[in-house]
Amino acid sequence: MNILIMGGSSGIGEATARAFLDRGDRVTITGRDKTRLDGALARLGAGAEGEAVDATDAAAVEATARRLAPIDVLVLALSGGQGGGPFRHLGLDDLRGGFEGKLWPQLTALQRSLDAMAPDAAIVLVTAGSAHVALPGTAGLAAINGALEAMVGPLAAELAPLRVNAVSPGVVDTPWWDGQSPEMRAATFESFATWLPAGRVGRPGDIAAAIVALATNGYVTGTVLDCAGGGQLAMGR
Ligand SMILES: NC(=O)c1ccc[n+]([C@@H]2O[C@H](COP(=O)([O-])OP(=O)(O)OC[C@H]3O[C@@H](n4cnc5c(N)ncnc54)[C@H](OP(=O)(O)O)[C@@H]3O)[C@@H](O)[C@H]2O)c1
Repeated sequence: MNILIMGGSSGIGEATARAFLDRGDRVTITGRDKTRLDGALARLGAGAEGEAVDATDAAAVEATARRLAPIDVLVLALSGGQGGGPFRHLGLDDLRGGFEGKLWPQLTALQRSLDAMAPDAAIVLVTAGSAHVALPGTAGLAAINGALEAMVGPLAAELAPLRVNAVSPGVVDTPWWDGQSPEMRAATFESFATWLPAGRVGRPGDIAAAIVALATNGYVTGTVLDCAGGGQLAMGR
């Protein structure tokens, strides 16, 4: 299969590229930073291709998608890191930045790739459990990811026979957390690990496996799949 992973140069996207490569698929990853992209391509090794594309650049996305057509699987794994924190103190410009960093790039990438998709292609969005768990400090992230998750059903109905699904991760150990000091990050992961039913935070490969499952099961569409170590249960979903 011909796979395009937008936001494939790090974390969950890179692990997803690895999972598809291990299946023998043709994989192209994108990201904005060429150095980061080249690093991921070097780690992924033979078979992986990459293009430095900003998903907010509609024309660039369209050109990349057209060059790769027909695309069998489109994975949208990109995001920025803004929009989290207690609502009382959350700068609304920061929240706006969160939307600019995740919602609009994912929607731009999705819309501008549609004409390049194979008729029976699969689209997998990577959202976040914050969309549907009531965790203090995540109202902004809930708004961003909730907007994406709300679109999965209508898009699956409208775009059929294309399939549209999302994987909704909990806390995953990726460079997304690099904004925190190593000590704070370790404390955050430790505290999640103590109450998560899975007993640990997620690894990028956990989420990659869920993405591959949704992308390759031809009978699943319109689904948001929690991949959160049971975090959605503990939060009372
Ligand atoms: N890690 C977690 O705990 C966690 C939890 C729940 C949900 N998620 C979601 O999982 C997805 C993947 O996150 P991650 O943890 O793997 O983060 P990550 O390691 O920071 O990777 C993000 C990737 O997206 C790319 N990217 C960001 N903005 C882009 C843009 N405008 N155009 C093209 N590429 C762009 C980045 O490359 P460049 O910066 O070079 O562009 C990078 O390849 C995100 O949607 C995130 O919100 C993560």
